[in-house]
Parts: sequence; structure tokens; C-alpha cells
Amino acid sequence: YIFYTLKGLKALEEQLKEILNIKKVIISPNSSGDDPFVYKDMGKTASKCINSIIKNDSIIGLTGGTSIYQVVMEYKNSRDIEKYKNVTIIPARGGLGKEVEYQANTLVQNLANKLGCNYKTLYTPDFLSKGTIDSLLKEPSIKSIIELIEHIDILVFGIGRADKMAKRRGLKNDEIQSLISKGAVSEAFGYYFNENGEIVHEISTIGIKLETFKKIENLIAVAGGSEKAEAIASISKLNKNLTLICDESVAKKIILKY
Ligand code: BG6
Repeated sequence: YIFYTLKGLKALEEQLKEILNIKKVIISPNSSGDDPFVYKDMGKTASKCINSIIKNDSIIGLTGGTSIYQVVMEYKNSRDIEKYKNVTIIPARGGLGKEVEYQANTLVQNLANKLGCNYKTLYTPDFLSKGTIDSLLKEPSIKSIIELIEHIDILVFGIGRADKMAKRRGLKNDEIQSLISKGAVSEAFGYYFNENGEIVHEISTIGIKLETFKKIENLIAVAGGSEKAEAIASISKLNKNLTLICDESVAKKIILKY
């Protein structure tokens, strides 16, 4: 039985990889409709994936969110204190919000503690004016982290639905409606995209730029739940180097739809 299940999942992974035209797909099996363990499992898979590509001087970028939170939770403590001493972990962009435990800065510190490596944080708010951004970018401490962000080797990021993320970030109803009427279906690292992977809106904040994202060699997206089908398909258009770690329910939904 297990043999057939695994074989079935492998076929599903291949099919989804073809449809999305990306580097790799890893699917965690759902045991039932609403399965909390699937998120733990995706986190564990992602942590193994990071472990297999991490080099002794890697610069790892993280976003926040509940999916990446699970990745950090499932990561095992490194027993070798020397191994990662030149690795650096940074948030992909600034961020301050209500739910501190899911913020990129918190996840960065937690993962760095597990690996025994260096980290930097970036505590800047979302919605900044252009003038504020320009002057913050002149600050040496912010400049140095921006330089690191431009050299990220491995980015581990969450994918959100545009409507849900806009709501989570406290946008007003008419602002959310305006995003949706412009075709926004997905959100990742502060950008909202339409189904073709074109930018619909960009949060004025400090952090990773889309041009940088498009050049990163190792991209690991962690996203599950069938409601994220359109969002995942949209983000997959941005960079073919993507490794997608998702669950069975969203994999099947994407295959049915596209
Ligand atoms: C956020 C990221 O923290 O997590 C977003 O900054 C992403 O870019 C979102 O869309 C996904 O969140 P979750 O909780 O669904 O994993």
C-alpha cells in the first residue's frame, strides 16, 4: 500500500513540476482534508532540503509566516559548532507586526541558534515613504544588510494569497478590493503578483528586490493548502530555479486547474 502511495506521489511531483515548469517539487501526503501534520512534514522536508544545499559560507534569506515558522521548528540543532560558523542568516526584508513569533527576524534568530551561525536582523516597518526609505538606505547598518540580501544564495520563503496577505497586513477593504480588481492572486516577500507573475503592487519597504529574487540559484518555497493553488502557480512564473515544497491537496488542485 505504502509502495503505491509513494509511487503515486512521485508521479504527482513529476506532473506538477512539468506544469509549473520549475526545478523540483516535493509533496507531503495529506492524511485527511485538514491535516495539521502536513505542515510539520513540509517543514521537515524543507529543513532537509536546506541542509543538503547549505555551504560553509552560505547566505540564507528567510521570510516570515506560519509555513517558514514550521521549517525552523522542525530544524534539528547542529551538533557541530564549527560547521556553520561562516554561514549567515538574514530576513529577506524588513518587517514589524503584531505576531512577533512568525516574523522573519524572529525566525532568523531561531534558525541561527539551531545552526550555530551568524545572523542579522532588519527591524524596519512595512509602509514607508520614499524619502524615509532613501534616508534609511544611507544608514551603514541598513546598507550592510541590503548588501547581504543582494547576495542571498538560498532563499526560503512562504507564498500567500493576495487577499489573505493584504488582510493580514491590515489593508482596508477598499484597498484589498483594488488589489483584487487589478488581478492580484499571490503575495511573496512584499510583492503582489497577478496570475502571470507580473507585479500588481509592491509594498514600500526595505528588502529584497524582484530583480535579486530572479537571480537566486536556490529558491525553496514552502506553501500548502488547496486555497493557495493560484498563488503558487503565479509565483512559479518568476524563477525556474524554484523548489516547491507543498502538500497533496494543493498539488492536486493545481494539476486539475492548469
Ligand atoms: C509572510 C511572507 O511572512 O508569509 C509572505 O512575508 C508570505 O511573503 C506569507 O506570503 C505566507 O504566510 P503563511 O503563514 O501562509 O506561510
